[in-house]
Amino acid sequence: MRNVEITGWGKCMPPNVLSNHDLEQLVDTSDDWITTRTGIKERRISHVEASELAAVAGLRALAAAGKTVDDVDLLMVATCSGDSIIPSTASVVQKRMETWNAAAMDLNAACSGFVYGLVVGTNMIRGGTYQTVLLVGTEKLHHLLDFTDRSTCILFGDGAGAVVLEGSDESAGVLASDLGTDGSAGHVLEVPVDGTMGDRGHPDPAMCGISMEGQEIFRRAVTKMSESSLIALDKAGLRLDDVDLLIPHQANSRIIDATARRLGLDGAKVYVNIQSYGNTSAATVPVALTEALEDGRISPGDIVLFAAFGGGLTWGSLVYKWGSRVTPLGKSDAELPPPDRNTLELLRPNFDFFGLPERMA
Ligand code: UT7
Repeated sequence: MRNVEITGWGKCMPPNVLSNHDLEQLVDTSDDWITTRTGIKERRISHVEASELAAVAGLRALAAAGKTVDDVDLLMVATCSGDSIIPSTASVVQKRMETWNAAAMDLNAACSGFVYGLVVGTNMIRGGTYQTVLLVGTEKLHHLLDFTDRSTCILFGDGAGAVVLEGSDESAGVLASDLGTDGSAGHVLEVPVDGTMGDRGHPDPAMCGISMEGQEIFRRAVTKMSESSLIALDKAGLRLDDVDLLIPHQANSRIIDATARRLGLDGAKVYVNIQSYGNTSAATVPVALTEALEDGRISPGDIVLFAAFGGGLTWGSLVYKWGSRVTPLGKSDAELPPPDRNTLELLRPNFDFFGLPERMA
């Protein structure tokens, strides 16, 4: 069976920052509470749509792979906060990037979306249908944030990350994976009034934002990310000792620590960047991968374990043997347009819709 390798990687983080200290001015919280309960210090608030973040991340990943937009034959966008349902966000990204040879589709498995995408992309290439897959995780989650709810508004942020997947004859690439879903617990993390079941004139704006049972998600995330990791490692014929780096979904540093503890994995082998960006759902894993490579945390031949958990409820893990190249082949000059508003101004539509945060009321 043909191997499938990640040959390019890139990220696009919007420049506007919302720090814990900024949040202290909005809601009844503190930098200390957010830091100790979640590990988050700041997050980004995007001035552009998720598709524009995705296009820049995608162009950067293509340059890193030494590919052009014409090489992409499948473009997949993992997102749960995309620009629109129709057209798909992937179609919009195709237009922005001009990847005209690519079939384009969205994939929504919430925070597990990127790991799901890695599995789908891998099997599309293994099956011989596609040669070069561009997989992007992109989110503009702040659109769904109700700043009258301090338990959710502190957690999420915006951003995008992307990888290029290609068939390879090297003895490297995707070794094994495990995916799962428990739809019976979908209500544990939801945007209640959305989609065709939603009441278009719902009187309570809070129903249009992210609603969740935090502790329930916490408990399930730790259990499922560790169980799934062990299943994937077992399928790959590897043991935990073989893992050089775990790149987990970045939802809460305590979830990450508890997962590593449950697995018995040394914390030094876990990549964490949640302090800078918060939870960017489908974007956390490709952004963390890009930064792990930039930080020199991945060496040729390393075994990298990806693990994620999110809405659905969904989870997934993937065991990957890194190939010989850990540096990009090229660099894209793609950039976002500069923001024309500051962070608070970008949040104004949220305040108008959901209500003023208590400290502004
Ligand atoms: O990708 C999946 C997406 N979602 C998640 O991953 C969420 C997973 N869950 C979590 O990360 C945690 O459950 C939270 C960070 C959301 C909450 O942490 P916790 O340790 O489970 O806190 P808690 O919900 O038990 O709340 C403890 C206290 C409560 O006050 P009382 O009832 O003890 O007086 C909350 O009202 O903390 C209060 N609280 C806050 N205090 C200051 C809740 N949010 C805040 C806040 N600032 N932002």
